[in-house]
Amino acid sequence: MNAPVSSKSLRRIAKLCSLRSKRWERCYTIVKLRSDPVYAAVTQELAGSTLPVLDIGCGIGLLAFYLREAGFTPAIAGFDYDPQKIACAQSMISRSDYSGLSFMTGDARKGLPECSGHVVILDILQFLTRDEQSALLTAAAARVAPGGSLIIRTCLQDESSRFRITVAGDWLARLTFWMKGSPVSYPDRALFESVLGAAGLRVRVQPLWGVTPFNNHLVVAERE
Ligand SMILES: C[S@@+](CC[C@H](N)C(=O)[O-])C[C@H]1O[C@@H](n2cnc3c(N)ncnc32)[C@H](O)[C@@H]1O
Repeated sequence: MNAPVSSKSLRRIAKLCSLRSKRWERCYTIVKLRSDPVYAAVTQELAGSTLPVLDIGCGIGLLAFYLREAGFTPAIAGFDYDPQKIACAQSMISRSDYSGLSFMTGDARKGLPECSGHVVILDILQFLTRDEQSALLTAAAARVAPGGSLIIRTCLQDESSRFRITVAGDWLARLTFWMKGSPVSYPDRALFESVLGAAGLRVRVQPLWGVTPFNNHLVVAERE
């Protein structure tokens, strides 16, 4: 898939980080946005929609900024339990021309903000137990409006070497303190089909590892 935003757009996002004088955040941002296929994939899923987006586990808000650079204009709310990342995202908004973006601190295991639109969950399910994953998926599905989607990027648990590399990467992120949480449990395809199917969503699952060595998949659950 071709990236829908230009290199100039990616540099504009990265520069917002550098304005906080955190050089590593700028480097992380540009490398992540250039190499990770998930931002283009989510943009493609949301193309043409006017529904708002709730981004659970938004980190420093890269998806929201990427969507704005791609021309996506509906409201986007980000939600993450790491106050430093939310502070960074808020700082980036205040130094930008983007509108309709908001970021708030909160723990997805304890409840979600109200929303009726699309819901995005990128790379956080592994920090939850299987019961917490089920509860989060149920709560997220309840926030998907007719015509909306729950879009998830996750590593799927299986026997592959990709799976083992992903687990090692998550532990490295924890040991370097980039992630507050350690990986707890990786979901499998059956979890999405049972929980989201029961919530009335139509589920599809496809590989999304791009040039990375990780066992990442895109799960899209649509409400007709
Ligand atoms: C791998 S990062 C992904 C960041 C972002 N979704 C992206 O793709 O750029 C995982 C994020 O989930 C957040 N997170 C993990 N557990 C969470 C929870 N229980 N509630 C809210 N956020 C959580 C972490 O703070 C981190 O920012």
